[in-house]
Amino acid sequence: MKSLIRKLKKKFFEKEVYLKVYEPRKKTVPEKTIPVTTAWKGLELIIEDILDQFDVNRGSCIEFGVEFGFSSVVFSNYFEKVTGIDTFIGDEHTVHKGDHYDKTKQSLIGFENIELVQSDYKDWIKKDTNQYDFAHVDIVHNYKETYECGLWAVQHSKCCIFHDTESFPEVRRAVFDIAKNTGKTAYNYPYHYGLGIIA
Ligand SMILES: C[S@@+](CC[C@H](N)C(=O)[O-])C[C@H]1O[C@@H](n2cnc3c(N)ncnc32)[C@H](O)[C@@H]1O
Repeated sequence: MKSLIRKLKKKFFEKEVYLKVYEPRKKTVPEKTIPVTTAWKGLELIIEDILDQFDVNRGSCIEFGVEFGFSSVVFSNYFEKVTGIDTFIGDEHTVHKGDHYDKTKQSLIGFENIELVQSDYKDWIKKDTNQYDFAHVDIVHNYKETYECGLWAVQHSKCCIFHDTESFPEVRRAVFDIAKNTGKTAYNYPYHYGLGIIA
């Protein structure tokens, strides 16, 4: 009975916060990945397809939420330059807490097109006026932070993706609201904890 109520609630929520379904036309294994444990695993297969389907140039990518660098390395296969912003201290939703900047920096040493910046997104978005081809938001999964960081990322890129639209209703709602408030379209890939796409 409890699981039926949960299922009905989920269906109602998904209807209220409707995101078009994104369907990959192809899957590609990127040439380079790093062996770290991450909830992002599986999404590396659809990045090239997203770039093709949404006609994204391969110049610059900005990422908010690097942690140990799995997604940054995936993007480094496709973009000339990847800028990764993270406090590198974890947050209320991450398993790892404590400063891991040096550890991540060390394991990404061979990836010359990745620049890591230890910063809160709040400080970064106050001073960066650049436009990027692509953006990724995977920070603390609260509505306020995802909306604030995501709105900036959507306004400063052609296409922006958001991790955890299925596992955190707050992220899904932020994606829905950002698309509505910017006049863009939101899509969702419902696997690997969910990936929202705004283009
Ligand atoms: C889920 S992890 C990112 C996972 C990563 N994308 C991957 O491929 O495995 C979330 C990261 O967001 C960072 N973070 C949380 N709040 C932040 C904020 N306000 N500004 C910058 N980074 C933040 C945390 O330090 C953590 O490393």
